[in-house]
Amino acid sequence: MAASQSIGEALQECPGTMTGSTEPSQIHLQLTDNPSEVVVMWATERRGNAVVEWNGQSADGDSYCYNHDMAFHMATMSDLTPGEEVTYRVGDGGDWSQEYKFTPIDIDANRFEWIAIADYGDSSEAVDVSGAIIADTTAQLVTISGDISYADGEQSAWDDWFVDQEASMTRIPWVTAVGNHENEPGYGFTPYAHRFDADEMKETEPFWYSRDFAGVHMVFMSTEHDYDLGSAQYAALEADLSAANANREERPFIVVIAHKPMYSSNSYHGSEMALREAVEELYQTHSVDLVIAGHDHFYERTWPVFQEEPQSFGGEDGTLFGQGFGPIHIVAGNAGRTPYTEVDEPQPAWSAYREVDTFGYMKIIYDEETRSLSFTFHRTDETIGDQFTIQEGVLNEKEDDTFQLIPGFGTLLPLISLIGAAFLRRDVVLD
Ligand SMILES: [Fe+2]
Ligand SMILES: [Fe+2]
Repeated sequence: MAASQSIGEALQECPGTMTGSTEPSQIHLQLTDNPSEVVVMWATERRGNAVVEWNGQSADGDSYCYNHDMAFHMATMSDLTPGEEVTYRVGDGGDWSQEYKFTPIDIDANRFEWIAIADYGDSSEAVDVSGAIIADTTAQLVTISGDISYADGEQSAWDDWFVDQEASMTRIPWVTAVGNHENEPGYGFTPYAHRFDADEMKETEPFWYSRDFAGVHMVFMSTEHDYDLGSAQYAALEADLSAANANREERPFIVVIAHKPMYSSNSYHGSEMALREAVEELYQTHSVDLVIAGHDHFYERTWPVFQEEPQSFGGEDGTLFGQGFGPIHIVAGNAGRTPYTEVDEPQPAWSAYREVDTFGYMKIIYDEETRSLSFTFHRTDETIGDQFTIQEGVLNEKEDDTFQLIPGFGTLLPLISLIGAAFLRRDVVLD
């Protein structure tokens, strides 16, 4: 799935008047939808050529600017063997970076591990999260569910942020969904679109797209662009989810990464009702397993839910879930920004667990042997905030006595949907 808008006209030549160094900085990897290639992006003060060298090969890339005094470069390492380590460096053919190493993700491996965060910035708590990400040597990827650097129009803040993340981003790709803070005063989404090459930027803008990994089909959608029925994004989402749902044998789990949450019991923003009205049914129809959002700066997990009604309380004291009841929605807005500490009382029935005033990151592991996806919220103090597992298929009651599904829920579903629709609130949540 790729966004349909062309960015061609937005790619600007760099002015010849730029001064300073051609030493590469802000080096970071990005994925395309081809697992045998990886894009590397970097910035320099002065414009110059873009060259990447890896494993004895080399390729020329593209250089471009936007309304900021740095030149950006992007080059593709191709014909890579997934799972085999690559050594690379970037430069202009004369000035080179140091050498870095990464291992291209094998999307057919029997294990895949990634870290998910949202609402990040550069506070001391965010630096703690960065440290934890760097220390985690088994994560193959980082996803950010929006609100990334909080540059908010100050372009040097992005430069500093990318330099801060280099130790991780030169080794594993960070793949992103846009948040409201990527829509910057005076710049719109231009800085985001030029600094992250999530989907072959020359042709498309990286606002909605999907990627396959071992066991997981991952969809990055934008809550900051039109997602209503009839929009380009809705059509792309529908086509993508439908194809992914037909491919469960190969990739049993579907995960959506998006900024604003359709379920949040935080009093600051709360549930994004317009989003829920637009896409919840689509997610239900195609059995999305997990949605990881941010925007409210706290942690929350729902039960598998549809139209505000919990569809299952899982097994093993609510830590094990099967598939097909409804997505579990996560708000993971706790990677470094000021916590929003007020929550709605009483806790809604759909909310399984919530926690304010802590910081951390989510680690998600797909294991081919058990065909399961295990999720752990790690706090920065190295304690665990929450943990659960989704396994392929429906939980077997006979094998698991603690399994408790709400009695008769399956048969009541159409009725509940009708009641739910009648009571669906229509308030617009302002940011
Ligand atoms: Fe935020
Ligand atoms: Fe936000």
